Parts: sequence; C-alpha cells; structure tokens
Amino acid sequence: MFDQYPKLLVLKDGTSVLLRPMKPEDESELRAFFERIPERERWFRRENVGDPTVIHKWFENMDYRRVLPMVALREEDGRIIANLSLHRRPWGCLSHIGHIRILVDPQYRGLRLGTWMLLDLVKLAMGMGVEKIVAEFVSGIEDAAMRGVEKLDFFKAAVLEKHVKDPEGNYHDLVIMVKNLHRDWSDF
Ligand SMILES: CC(C)(COP(=O)(O)OP(=O)(O)OC[C@H]1O[C@@H](n2cnc3c(N)ncnc32)[C@H](O)[C@@H]1OP(=O)(O)O)[C@@H](O)C(=O)NCCC(=O)NCCS
Repeated sequence: MFDQYPKLLVLKDGTSVLLRPMKPEDESELRAFFERIPERERWFRRENVGDPTVIHKWFENMDYRRVLPMVALREEDGRIIANLSLHRRPWGCLSHIGHIRILVDPQYRGLRLGTWMLLDLVKLAMGMGVEKIVAEFVSGIEDAAMRGVEKLDFFKAAVLEKHVKDPEGNYHDLVIMVKNLHRDWSDF
C-alpha cells in the first residue's frame, strides 16, 4: 500500500515537494515544523504540538493502523512543510471512521498542497476500508479550511455551539464536517 511513496508534487509556485508517510527519522524536522506555526494557531490543535515530549510520544507509538501520519517535504532540503494525519480506532463500532487533521506551513498555503494531500489521503483511506472521514473546524478561525474541504465534498454534519475557547476567552462553534467514501475503484 505504501510502495507508491514518496510521491512528487509540484506546487503552484513551482516548489517540488515529496509526499510520504512519516518515518522515525522525521522527529526533529517535525518539531521544527511545528515551531514555525504561530503560537495562536497551535492553540487550536488537539495536542500541544509546541511541546517536544508530545511529538516524541507520537514517534514512540507509531502504528499506521491507528494513526497514519503523512508529511510533505521540500525536495531541495527535506524541510517538512505540511502534516496530515488519519486517526482510526483499530476495533469496534467506530473502526470504519477516520478522523483527519491537517496543517500546512503558513509560507506554503494557498498553493494546493492541502488539496493534493487530502486527495491522496482519501485514496489511502478507501484502500484501508474507511467508510467515512470526519474533520473538525473552529468557526471564525478555520473558515478558509472549511471552504476548502467543502470543495472536496465534505459536508457540515453537526455543530457544537460555543464549544471551543480561543486564547482571549471567546467561545466558538465547533463544526464537524464529513465525507462519505466508496470502495477503492482498484478493488473492483
Ligand atoms: C487548511 C489548510 C490545510 C489548507 O491548505 P492549503 O495548502 O493552504 O490549501 P489549498 O491551497 O489546497 O487550498 C484549498 C482551498 O482552501 C481554501 N483556502 C485555503 N487557504 C485559504 C485562504 N488563506 N483564504 C481563503 N481560502 C483559502 C480555498 O477554498 C482553496 O481553494 P482554491 O484554491 O480553489 O481557492 C491550511 O490553510 C492550514 O494549515 N490552515 C491552518 C490549520 C487548519 O485550519 N486546519 C484545519 C483543521 S484540521
């Protein structure tokens, strides 16, 4: 399933990027990537990605069946410029669902990197038997991202009103977006 990686992408500005699943040797580059993300933006992540011990734990417990982390690296120097992950439960009534989280380096946004990574992950998820992809967005903060995934046929499935608190103490809705998948065509 992962033989096809690394995949080469060329962004709208001509930057060559390699896309592949994360490997154990990526830890320090991934730490550096999160350090380049503005602190306010990090506040809205599920985990404190500015804390090296949090990142270290991910590398200790790497299991692609539970979390499939993908990275995009600048081909010229191997700098990580985006991270996308698919989170799954290995067993039980929610094992057909995949949750995604995506983050692109601010310097490389708007160049379709996020779109290509999401399309690639959708294909991978279909191959893994995932039936539905779920992504959460903070209203008023991640609206651009929401508009982006709507173009990939994600729809608004639920809203948890005033669920999220920003660093200034204001509450925001949490929007749950869903994309239904079909079986991978290559299986037919
Ligand atoms: C959301 C994110 C991953 C998108 O990645 P990206 O590589 O910049 O996205 P793309 O260039 O592929 O753009 C896809 C679409 O997103 C929307 N979009 C992305 N950036 C935007 C911006 N700054 N303003 C308005 N719309 C934007 C557009 O609809 C765009 O489609 P278009 O190019 O046809 O106009 C990136 O902006 C990011 O990391 N944001 C912060 C983290 C976040 O919000 N994560 C989502 C919650 S998990």
